[in-house]
Amino acid sequence: MTEKSYHIITFGCQMNVHDSQWLARALTARSFVEAPLEDAQVVIVNTCSVREKPEQKVMSALGRIRQVTGGSPHVLVAVTGCVAQQVGAAFFEKEAQVRLVAGSDGIANAPAAIERLLAEPELRLSLLDFSSSYLEREPGADGPCGPVAHVNIMQGCDNFCTYCIVPFTRGRQKSRMSAAILDECRLRIAQGAREICLLGQNVNAFGRDGHGDGLSFARLLHQVAGLPGLRRLRFVTPHPKDMSPQDIAAFAELPQLCPRLHLPLQAGSDSVLKRMHRRYDSAAFLDLVSRLREARPDLALSTDLIVGFPGETEADFQATLDMMRACGFMSSFSFCYSDRPGARAALFPDKIAPVIQQDRLLRLQALQEELGQQWLQARTGTETSLLLEGRSPKARMDTTDPPALTSWQGRDPYGVPVHVYLPEHADHTGRMLSVRITNAKKHSLQADALEAPW
Ligand code: SAH
Ligand code: SF4
Ligand code: F3S
Repeated sequence: MTEKSYHIITFGCQMNVHDSQWLARALTARSFVEAPLEDAQVVIVNTCSVREKPEQKVMSALGRIRQVTGGSPHVLVAVTGCVAQQVGAAFFEKEAQVRLVAGSDGIANAPAAIERLLAEPELRLSLLDFSSSYLEREPGADGPCGPVAHVNIMQGCDNFCTYCIVPFTRGRQKSRMSAAILDECRLRIAQGAREICLLGQNVNAFGRDGHGDGLSFARLLHQVAGLPGLRRLRFVTPHPKDMSPQDIAAFAELPQLCPRLHLPLQAGSDSVLKRMHRRYDSAAFLDLVSRLREARPDLALSTDLIVGFPGETEADFQATLDMMRACGFMSSFSFCYSDRPGARAALFPDKIAPVIQQDRLLRLQALQEELGQQWLQARTGTETSLLLEGRSPKARMDTTDPPALTSWQGRDPYGVPVHVYLPEHADHTGRMLSVRITNAKKHSLQADALEAPW
């Protein structure tokens, strides 16, 4: 075991990934080093409870940690995030190695708590209180940032969709002060970011909760897009009901705003949407899509979908498939509904049998494969720009003459991975490159460079 070393295991959404990255920077600033699980003194499990499966994964991760570390009392295990918020101090009874439980707002103080726990081996701490406003966090270790940076703009959610645990685990919505958001964006750009993705559970309700400074989401988009050096702007996740005319207009007005929008539909049937408490119906969603496409004709949409919500009939399910075709989603995340204790739908009658849920999920995913392939195929022959991220994971050397070409991976404005051969000798990371798409693979594209990036 290496003294002052840490290992982080992350489950869940982009916000959890972002929290884990921050934990790593904050521990690095306290002179901790990263280590493999078998070597680490501190093991952090950053958890998700949005569905049954991720929650089960957390429990099996704790079992694996016990196995790998032999249950050593010298290894400090911290459970953070949404399951920690829910289960709380009961974790201390479940697993003897767990000495820190930190919920959504408690994470901000987790690095200091870890130092204290290492100094006081008998102590256990739980950080479960929700703060009354967005908690700014210590900046953590400085260092270069990749070409894409994620920046939190809020915490929590007020929507209480009936299937969802998030408002309970992340607490009420709290917007961050816009000055702090803009400062973090400037810092990331100075560290090398060319693309910024604004994060939150309900980003387009930013500024409406009375905790921040009241700047609207559309104004925030304008201010971030205007930062010198920024080439691309994205955000995730917006709620369809909160999309203002100004948000839609931003897609026409801001060239930095990428023509890709993740817009969670969840279901196509109006009665299911009503019971989900989504507060839009299929007609309103289609109207929103057409207004967005009017503002930005090259817009591509992706979505989240749930199958087998309580009471969902085959006709309801067919309505979801119809909406998928009507919207032409380029991709989607799809899930079988699972009961979340505390969420209202857990009490709804007419639960759908798992075999039926699974059958619907497979049919939905088959349709999505078809729509995704159609969308990718239609891209071949078009010109676009890439933000280069690094060598392709499975880079093959090109053997043509002159040699020394390597496959690089970039993302197009839709966030699709695109592979392109470039000269080996230079580091192209963070550069923009004009390309022509030559070929569509299953979930990625191949392209030829239209210019020399060096
Ligand atoms: N705030 C975002 C993301 C919420 S969680 C939004 O409103 O879209 C991510 C996705 O998990 C949701 O969009 C939903 O599709 C899915 N999800 C949430 N609770 C679920 C549950 N109980 N069962 C199945 N899927 C669920
Ligand atoms: Fe959950 Fe709905 Fe909030 Fe998204 S908007 S986090 S699905 S309650
Ligand atoms: Fe999971 Fe919490 Fe995110 S429940 S999806 S980690 S907000």
